Amino acid sequence: MSILKIARMGHPVLEKRAAPVADPTAPEIARLIADMYETLDDIGGAGLAAPQVHVGLRVVIFEVPAVRTQDESEEEIPRTTLINPEIEPIGPEIAVDWEGCLSVPGLRGAVPRPARIRYRALTPAGERIEREVDGFHARVVQHECDHLDGVLYPMRMTDLSTLHFVSEMRHNPRLNQPLTTPPIEDVA
Ligand code: NI
Repeated sequence: MSILKIARMGHPVLEKRAAPVADPTAPEIARLIADMYETLDDIGGAGLAAPQVHVGLRVVIFEVPAVRTQDESEEEIPRTTLINPEIEPIGPEIAVDWEGCLSVPGLRGAVPRPARIRYRALTPAGERIEREVDGFHARVVQHECDHLDGVLYPMRMTDLSTLHFVSEMRHNPRLNQPLTTPPIEDVA
């Protein structure tokens, strides 16, 4: 296994639509996934998409760690690999919450996304999975799958005044609040 280099915003691999995986059970896909988990373990984070390690294939990994579930009635989800995932929103509700990205290091911003989604994907064993999810689970899957279509979270932001360096957060109460509804400034 290897720790892979993370592509950062501006690298063309992050701007392209990634290609579908022809055979999810192929040994080179297993190797890619193992390397992605080792890379995520090394750098820390809730998820990673293959284009972030310079591989233009439709593969994402994620987890919903316990630390993300404490304030919500949410289920902890162990490490999960999605191959060729497809997402559809369920209902009109939009949720806004803070996001960061390993490809946009040091920054964080408030991102509106559909609150509830259904996703379908193949597993590395070639089996189909289909889930309806909300909360952080829905957010991390949408964030990672956006990487497969060349979309980074700042491109989803509607209030750029919330974009900030994590290292400056402690100076700014405005940036330390939980976001459950669109920020007031959005509608003012
Ligand atoms: Ni990301």
